[in-house]
Amino acid sequence: MTNQPKFTSQTQRGNFRSSEWFAGDDEVALAHRVVMASVGHEIDAQNSKPIIGIADSSSDLNPCNLPLRDFLPAIKQGIIDAGGIPMFFPVMSLGEDLMKPSAMLYRNMLSMEVEEYLRSYPLDGVVLLANCDKSVPGALMGALSADLPTLMFTAGARPAALFQGRRVGTGTELWRMWSDFRSKKITESEWKEFEGCLNCGLGSCNTMGTASSVAMMVEALGLTLPGTSTHPENTQERKDAAYATGKAIVEMTFEGRTPSKILTSGSFRNAVRVLQSCGGSTNAIIHLIALSGRAEGNLTMDQISSLGEGLSVIVDVEPSGRELIQEFDIAGGLPALINQLGERFELDELTSLGTPWRSNLANPVSGSVIKSLDIPIYPKAAFGVLFGNLAPKGALIKVSAASEHLLIHSGKAIVFNGYEDMRTRIDDPELEVSKDSVLILKDCGPVGVPGMPEWGMIPIPKKLIAQGVTDMVRISDARMSGTSFGTCILHVSPESAVGGPLGLVEDGDMIEIDIPAGKIDLRVDESELERRSRDWVAPKSAHLRGWPALYQLHVLQSDEGCDLDFLRPTSPEMRRFVPPVVGRS
Ligand code: FES
Repeated sequence: MTNQPKFTSQTQRGNFRSSEWFAGDDEVALAHRVVMASVGHEIDAQNSKPIIGIADSSSDLNPCNLPLRDFLPAIKQGIIDAGGIPMFFPVMSLGEDLMKPSAMLYRNMLSMEVEEYLRSYPLDGVVLLANCDKSVPGALMGALSADLPTLMFTAGARPAALFQGRRVGTGTELWRMWSDFRSKKITESEWKEFEGCLNCGLGSCNTMGTASSVAMMVEALGLTLPGTSTHPENTQERKDAAYATGKAIVEMTFEGRTPSKILTSGSFRNAVRVLQSCGGSTNAIIHLIALSGRAEGNLTMDQISSLGEGLSVIVDVEPSGRELIQEFDIAGGLPALINQLGERFELDELTSLGTPWRSNLANPVSGSVIKSLDIPIYPKAAFGVLFGNLAPKGALIKVSAASEHLLIHSGKAIVFNGYEDMRTRIDDPELEVSKDSVLILKDCGPVGVPGMPEWGMIPIPKKLIAQGVTDMVRISDARMSGTSFGTCILHVSPESAVGGPLGLVEDGDMIEIDIPAGKIDLRVDESELERRSRDWVAPKSAHLRGWPALYQLHVLQSDEGCDLDFLRPTSPEMRRFVPPVVGRS
C-alpha cells in the first residue's frame, strides 16, 4: 500500500470542535467564554484559534514522569507561536516503581481518564505528556479512542549511574547485582554503595526497557515527532523537541490530522518490526496489541511472530546489548534504525508530520550502537511466540535476552502457586530443583493478581547460583520488566486464574519447549489433564469492589492486549470520535 499525505483541512479556521462551546450570543456561550477569560485566554469572535490540551502526568510519586513539567513552558510557547491556545490539565501518573500490585492495573484507567477529558472539554487537539512504561500506552489508548489530533511527548531517559567507576544502566544491572548479593558474591556494603549510586537523576530507564521501547513504538506509529523519542532528559535536543511539538500539534489540528488518518495496519506492522529489531521490551508487545485494538490494526500473536522473520536485533543496547539509550540517540535514533531496516519497513507509512517515513530517515553514525541486518548483535528477531497445549493462545519470550542452550529444552516442572509461594520457597534448601528444572509461576496474569505484575523473571534458586547456574527456563502468565533477561517465557495465555492449562501443571510434570519451532507443551496424558481440569477450582478473588473488581470482570487476556472488553470499538464507526456536545450545559 502506498500512502501519500492525505490530509485536507477539515477544521477550517473558526470551525473547530471547540466552537460548539464558544460560538454564539446566548448565555451559555457567553459563560463558556468567561471561563476561558478567567484563566487568561480571550476567545475571539471567530474562535479562530484551536484549543490544545496538554495532558500532564508529572508527579512527585513518579520520578520518571516528574521532569515532564519542566517542558510545559516550551510546549505552551510552541502552541502559542503557531496560533493555538494551550490548556494544561493533570492526568494520573503511572509510576512503575511504587504502584502496587502493578502500574499495569491502572493503564486502562488512565486511558479512560484521557478519553473522557478529551470528550467532555472544548479541546481541538492534545499533547500527551508521559514517560514511564504504562503512562505512554495508557494515555495514547485514550487519545486513539477520542481521535483528536494527538502528539506524544516523553521526558527522555535519566542519566547513567556510576558504580565503582563504571556506567550502570537502569534495571538490568540491578537484577545482576541482586543475584550476586543473594549468592554472597558481593558484600552488604557493596550492595548499599550500589543503592547510593542509583539515585542519578530524573527520567525514564536508560536501557531498552519498556519506557524506551514504547516511546520508539509511538514514534514509529507516527504520533511523536520523528527523531525525538530517544533524546535524553535534560538536553537541549529535548527542549527543542518540546517547542517543536507545541508548534506541530497546532498544525495537525488545522489540518485535521487525527490518529485515524495516520494509523493503518501498516503502521502497526512497522511498530512490531521496530520492537523486533531493537531488542525491545516484551511489555511493549502487549501495549501495541492494545493500541491496535483501539485503532484498526488488530494485531495478533501470529503476526508478532511472522513480522520478525528475516529481521535481527541490530541495536546494541541493554538488556540484549551492552550500551544505553543515550548512545542509541547519538547514533541517530529511530530514523537511523528504520534506515537500516530499509524496505523491510513499510516506508510509505506516515510520520506525525504527515510525510512518509522514507523522507524522514537518517544514516546511523558509523561504528555506533546501530548495526546492520548483515552484522547484527543477535541473528534473529528479538521475540519468539510460542503455542502449544500449555499456551493455546500464545506465550512470549525475548529470545535475544535468553540463553542459547535453553532454547530447546525439556525438564520437570517445579510449580509455585502465586508470588508469595514463590518468594517463600525459592531459596528453600529442601526445594528439589536442578539446573534442568522448569520453574512455573501461576496466578500472576491479568485477572490473577490482578494487573499481571512483572514477576516473570523468577529468581534462580540460591543453591543453584552457588553451583554456577545463571539461567533456567521459567514459565508464567506474568510479565517481566523490559530491563530483565533470561529464558523467561511470559504472558502465557489464557492465564491460569481463568482456567488456562498453566493452572493444571503439577510438580514433576514434563515440560517441553522448542523456541525456534515456536512450541511449548505439557507432556501429560490427555485423560489426566481432563481429570485435573474437572477438579480445577478458580482462585478466590480478593477484590470485591472498586476498580480492581471491575478490571477483573472485563480485562482481556494478554494476546488481546489486556484492554477492557468494553473499551474496544465494536464497529468502524465507533473508531471515530463522537462529539460529546448534547445540548448546552
Ligand atoms: Fe519508569 Fe523505567 S521505571 S521508566
